[in-house]
Amino acid sequence: MIRKLGAVSAGLMLGSLVLVAQAPEPQTAVNNAYNQFKALKEGKNADYIPALAKVDPNLFGIALITTDGKVYSAGDIKTEVSIQSISKVFTMAQVIQEQGPDSIAKRIGVDATGARFNSIVAVEAVKTVVGTGAPEMNPLVNPGAISATSMVTGASSDAVWKKIIGTYNDYAGRELRVLQDVYKSESDTNQRNQAIGALMLAYGYIKSNWQQAVDLYTRQCSVGVNAKDLAEMAATLANSGKNPVTGKQVLKPEYVPKVLAVMATAGLYDDSGKWLYATGLPAKSGVGGGIIAVSPGKFGIAVVSPPLDDAGNSVRAQRAITAISNALGGNPYAARR
Ligand code: DON
Repeated sequence: MIRKLGAVSAGLMLGSLVLVAQAPEPQTAVNNAYNQFKALKEGKNADYIPALAKVDPNLFGIALITTDGKVYSAGDIKTEVSIQSISKVFTMAQVIQEQGPDSIAKRIGVDATGARFNSIVAVEAVKTVVGTGAPEMNPLVNPGAISATSMVTGASSDAVWKKIIGTYNDYAGRELRVLQDVYKSESDTNQRNQAIGALMLAYGYIKSNWQQAVDLYTRQCSVGVNAKDLAEMAATLANSGKNPVTGKQVLKPEYVPKVLAVMATAGLYDDSGKWLYATGLPAKSGVGGGIIAVSPGKFGIAVVSPPLDDAGNSVRAQRAITAISNALGGNPYAARR
């Protein structure tokens, strides 16, 4: 499939001989990136959540899944890290699925904040939604994500959690579990997110029980995933909301562009513009070291590598995904004629 998509990338006429440069096979592109970046030592594990500082910084796994369900990988695609902020995409998708795209646009907003992911200044800058139209916030920064979690309906905390984890399982194609050490570590140290949750209640984004919203948000961030799980989640978005491995339609196809648009706008936080400029791919990072990226109609890709740059995005994951996608012609803005 990729071969067909990326086939003729350049042709050179030499007399009557036409030399055609083909895009590499996906496995070759994945191997090349793995070998190119495996020795890269830039970046540092997140340590504001103590459990993340203990994760092996050498962990490096790449997985790419095409929309026809073929899996290509290199390195360690089995070891789990916490999904962290990548979870925000799938909780947002859950709310859009249940309540439609306007629910997110009107209550939280779909604009970049220009601030760090856990900025309190950003909350102050946009204040309440009441009577002010759509706020300049989005569900991929902490205030918007905690609000999105609060919007998942359910009679009890357990009922809401079952829905959230059930959705993640459908995207990943297997039953995921919470990494209890990360959940405990983050619960013990998440006072900043508690402050954000309380502020979001004060400003009307969260309607009630901000403590439950912060707890469920913390739990969703602690879900364990490996590179293959993340690639399958991304590939489901690349495949119009249908998991290409299990065949299950997880998100209505008409909602997928909404989710991808928010990822393109805010997926790598204040570096989202630079990322989009380099790759054109809607993507999402997490401080656990994962990044997912989506080439619509072609593939989902994920890399796990814990050391992060200053914006909180995995260094090796950014480099590897950029190299692989560019080699395979994954940029949706680069139309081929
Ligand atoms: O709320 C937090 O700080 C973390 N659970 C998630 C942050 C995160 O992953 C930001 N990502 N780049």
